[in-house]
Amino acid sequence: MKKRVFTAAQPSGNVHIGNYLGAFRQWAAVQDDYECIFGIVDMHAITVYQDPKDLSYRTREFAAILLALGIDPAKSAIMVQSAVPEHAELAWLLTCVTPIGWLQRMTQFKTKAARYEEVLDGLLQYPVLMAADILLYNASIVPVGDDQTQHLELTRDVADRFNRLYGETFVLPATKLPTVGARIMGLDDPTKKMSKSEDVGGHAVTLLDPPEVARKKIMRAQTDSHPEVDFQLSGPGVKNLLQIYQAFEGLSDDAMKAEFAGMRYGDLKKRVAECVVARLQPIQARFKEVMADEAGLHRVLDEGNARARTIAMETVRVAKERMGLFV
Ligand code: TYM
Repeated sequence: MKKRVFTAAQPSGNVHIGNYLGAFRQWAAVQDDYECIFGIVDMHAITVYQDPKDLSYRTREFAAILLALGIDPAKSAIMVQSAVPEHAELAWLLTCVTPIGWLQRMTQFKTKAARYEEVLDGLLQYPVLMAADILLYNASIVPVGDDQTQHLELTRDVADRFNRLYGETFVLPATKLPTVGARIMGLDDPTKKMSKSEDVGGHAVTLLDPPEVARKKIMRAQTDSHPEVDFQLSGPGVKNLLQIYQAFEGLSDDAMKAEFAGMRYGDLKKRVAECVVARLQPIQARFKEVMADEAGLHRVLDEGNARARTIAMETVRVAKERMGLFV
């Protein structure tokens, strides 16, 4: 039997090349080797206020992006978190084995909480819901970008604690990071991770940016005061552009040095911009086709939800039974 993969993303903003290089590219790549379930985690998105119309549109848009990226619904399930109520149910059970201190220590919680005067409980519980997403499907591998590693550690801790208290129930999942592209930085500020919630103009190239917009953002990317690429001395902005190119083109470190060492920053940016535009073009063309077939998109999600739910119901039944709850 194939091992299972579960991974997910929030439909909370414009999907960018950081999401693609850090995560979605791997999703399509693991489909043949594992039984995959890919989640659109709208209940995570609402831990920060979302306009309801926007959120439901983005859920469909994100499903279409996944299909455009080559996720094949005949092989993999694409599911929506809020359509499978067992995510919330298992999250509650796990909440009851998770010390608050573990959650208060989470870096993403601290960063997000610092932005708001009033911190919602959902933001604190966020990683428990994420643990539930993964443990529901007994996934052994979770492909993610580098920013999710702490949440994955917490998932293993929660699973381990549950197993000790109630008997071996959950598989402890392994984190799978890409070798290049695990942490793409903002183009406007390469000290900050490229992020969906950071929607200032030149921060991120989104997967649906028209070519002239993508080009402009890359040409304006922050670099440093050196004139040309130096693999030792160039700063984080240049390293980020190089990383983007390397991840898109799948080049080795040596091939990158041969191609870019000594290149003027202006030329580097042009080369990266052309690469990104060329790679996004087929994705965008396919996206338009998929979005135009609303009934087809709905069918994919209905089927994905049904497949996911069958597994999820059984896991929750077992977990409740182990805990002595009424089943
Ligand atoms: P989300 O929606 O923020 O991001 C989706 C995926 O994209 C990766 N990523 C990046 N990779 C490289 N560079 C970046 N700048 C960058 N920004 C984002 C993320 O690591 C992620 O893999 N908490 C998750 C969603 C989630 C989840 C799960 C993931 C909920 N339940 C269960 C895995 C398993 C999140 O907010 O991802």
